[in-house]
Amino acid sequence: MPHSLKIAALAGLALFFLTFAQSCYYDKEEELYPPTGCDTTSVTYSSTVQAILDNRCYGCHGNAVANVAGAGLSFEGHPNLKQYLDSNQDRFLGAIEHSPGYSPMPKGGSILPDCDLQNIRLWVEQGYPNN
Ligand code: HEC
Repeated sequence: MPHSLKIAALAGLALFFLTFAQSCYYDKEEELYPPTGCDTTSVTYSSTVQAILDNRCYGCHGNAVANVAGAGLSFEGHPNLKQYLDSNQDRFLGAIEHSPGYSPMPKGGSILPDCDLQNIRLWVEQGYPNN
């Protein structure tokens, strides 16, 4: 094979692998950040946070059951949640995000979907308004 042809073949091969590697990398990124989208543009207490807590937390941290099932912590209703967050913001986020050093919540259940976690964190960081 003439020298120039060898170089052309090598260059072609290199190009092929670069393209291939790029597409693999892209695939992985898609897996890590699924393009399904998480809408965090309109998080509010009444439409987002309350519904999540109602589904996943009030079973133990609701007003009627908190003392027997939720270690005395009721998060039902904005005033209760606000009172807890005023001094335990890190504890609340740590528990739902399963950070080391906090009791993972919901207790005995699976972690909240990533989009719910993102929305709750955002709302807490906005100062947990009663909106
Ligand atoms: C099955 C009952 C149950 C459910 C459901 C539950 N919790 Fe708890 N939670 C508890 C108990 C009991 C404790 C006391 C600590 C412990 O036993 O781990 C607790 C403690 C906590 C604490 C304090 C954690 C700490 O490390 O001090 C937070 C914050 C909390 N829960 C938030 C939540 C949130 C938010 C949800 C819903 C996403 C939830 N919990 C769902 C039972 C529950």
